[in-house]
Amino acid sequence: MLQETITRDQPARRWQDYVVPQCWENFTEEDHAVWDLLFARQVDLLGSRVVSAFFDGIDLLKLSHPGVPDVEGLNAILTPRTGWRTVAVPGLVPDEIFFAMLSERVFPVGNFIRRREQLDYLEAPDCFHDMFGHIPMLAHHDFAEMAEHVGRLGSAAIAAGEGHRAARLYWHSVEFGLAREDGELKILGAGLASSFGEAHFSLENEDVERLPFSVGRAVHTPYKHDAFQPRYLVSASLEETIAEVLELTPEALMAL
Ligand SMILES: [Fe+2]
Repeated sequence: MLQETITRDQPARRWQDYVVPQCWENFTEEDHAVWDLLFARQVDLLGSRVVSAFFDGIDLLKLSHPGVPDVEGLNAILTPRTGWRTVAVPGLVPDEIFFAMLSERVFPVGNFIRRREQLDYLEAPDCFHDMFGHIPMLAHHDFAEMAEHVGRLGSAAIAAGEGHRAARLYWHSVEFGLAREDGELKILGAGLASSFGEAHFSLENEDVERLPFSVGRAVHTPYKHDAFQPRYLVSASLEETIAEVLELTPEALMAL
C-alpha cells in the first residue's frame, strides 16, 4: 500500500513505529468467510490471466488455506525463501515509510479485512489486497530483489524531493503493471490481481491505452488513485521489467 500524501510538518518517524500486532485471533468467523469468498472468487476470475509467478507464489505460500492468513505463518515460509517478511499496519502508511519498509524487504499488510457489504469497494487496501495481491510475487526471487530496489529508489527520490518519480514507477509495475508471457497479455500488478472489476478491464477494455513499459515512460505517466486506470504499461516480459528496474540508479531515476 502506498499513500500519495506526504506530511512534512511532523517529526520524522521510523517505519517500525507504524507496525502493530496483527492480532489474528481477533478476526471473526465472518472475516475468515469473507477472505474465503474473495479468494475463491478471485482465483476463478483470474484463471490464467496473471503471470505464472503469481500462482507459483500462491501455492508456495499456501495461501489457499482457508481463512485470513496469519502474518507469522506467512513469514515462516516467505522469509527463508526470499528474505521478505510481512508486518501488520492499521492502514495506509506515508510514502517515505512505505519505501523504507520495501528497502528492508518488509511489506506492510492491513490488519483488517473488508466487510461482505463492501466486497468491491475499498477506502483503504485491506489484507486481501495486500496478502493476495502483493505477497505471492515476493516469493519470486528476482521480483523480490526488484521490489527491494524500488524501495531504495523511493527513499532516494523522496530525499531529493522527487518522490512522485518512484511512486509512478512503483504504480506502473508492482501495482498496476501488465506483462506479456508466452505472447499473451497478463496481469502483473497487485492492484489488478486483487481487483474483481479491474482485472478483466485492464486486459480487455477497448477504450484504455496499453503502452509498452519502460522506466522512462512509467516515471512520466500519471496515475489515478480512485478509479480504474485510463492507461496501463505493458512489459515485454516480467524478466525484462525486473532487469530494467534493477539497472536504474537513483541518479538515473532523477535524470529521466
Ligand atoms: Fe498495493
